[in-house]
Amino acid sequence: MTRTAVLRGIGAMVPPRAVDNDELSALLDTSDEWIRTRTGIRRRHWADPGMATSDLAMVAGERALKSAGGGPVGMVILATSTPNQPMPATAPQVAAGLGLGTVPAYDVTAACAGFVYGLSVAAGAIAARLADRVLVIGADLWSTRLNPDDRATAVIFGDGAGAAVLEAGRESDPGALLGFDLGSDGLHRELARVPGGGSLQLADPDTPFQQSDHYLTMRGKEIFTHAVGRMSESSGRLLKQVGWEARDVDWFAGHQANARILHAVADALDVDRSRVLIHLDRVGNTSAASIPLALTDAAVQGSLRPGQNVLMTAFGGGLSWGSAALNWPDVDVL
Ligand code: COA
Repeated sequence: MTRTAVLRGIGAMVPPRAVDNDELSALLDTSDEWIRTRTGIRRRHWADPGMATSDLAMVAGERALKSAGGGPVGMVILATSTPNQPMPATAPQVAAGLGLGTVPAYDVTAACAGFVYGLSVAAGAIAARLADRVLVIGADLWSTRLNPDDRATAVIFGDGAGAAVLEAGRESDPGALLGFDLGSDGLHRELARVPGGGSLQLADPDTPFQQSDHYLTMRGKEIFTHAVGRMSESSGRLLKQVGWEARDVDWFAGHQANARILHAVADALDVDRSRVLIHLDRVGNTSAASIPLALTDAAVQGSLRPGQNVLMTAFGGGLSWGSAALNWPDVDVL
């Protein structure tokens, strides 16, 4: 029988400092009304100075491990596009910080689709017997990479982390990850990016490095259109693959970028809007952390219940997108 990755624990965190729309409206030419009606976001959380992505990842990872009842893991995968530094990867630091010893630990970069990519890599590692138990964390700290003068990005993103423990099991087990659909389109890589700091544009003394090159740039309207199209297509393919009809989806856990995007994808799939998980109102777009944060919130609220079918789908810079299907297990959420 094929080994299948099964969800055993979940956890999440956002940093304590809440930033509401009014606070940003005092700094930028924007308003609570514009942000709420165009995105659905009411507030986000931003890390305090000195906080790193690894700090967020460790708290979420620890909570997911506790939720899974403790015990060892054989691999740590950190999905992030905001690592502590370009090299080395941040995952080994997180693994060491969690006291997980010398397990393989590495970063996966797929922007806002990172958590779904991380789950797929973990599921593959479990199926290939590289590990029996894997900790997958999605963590991003975008607040320090937002241009404070750019109202198109500064109001959207929040910091946070979410994590899941996957374990080897069977497809019939509660919590089984039943299928994936992944894709990318590098021709549109310029739509969301941080231009500086890589091999194409290094900081060096002869090339004055623009502060703005460190910042995230996004062509919102175009991203919006691609996001709706790609997430709808990917989710549609996955539904076929796992044999679910739209009515079989108990919860649609889409990447929390914009409530209008989530509703448009749900409409395209014929999933009722009442089945769409909305968490972005309280945390904004938390990139790779967004889906596990939304799932953790729904489980804590009691709306997400054991036995329900969850369709996850995410989209981000790259362009990268991915979907995953899962039957929600009976997990303790702390
Ligand atoms: N406050 C007030 N006005 C704003 C604003 C803000 N924060 N941001 C943009 N505007 C203005 C624009 O300047 C524009 O003004 P104009 O009509 O005078 O030119 C107007 O609002 C409409 O801008 P537009 O960019 O067309 O708005 P939009 O409805 O597309 O919403 C986003 C912008 C960013 C919220 C939306 O495009 C979006 O959510 N995109 C997808 C983001 C995403 O999925 N990211 C995740 C992957 S990276």
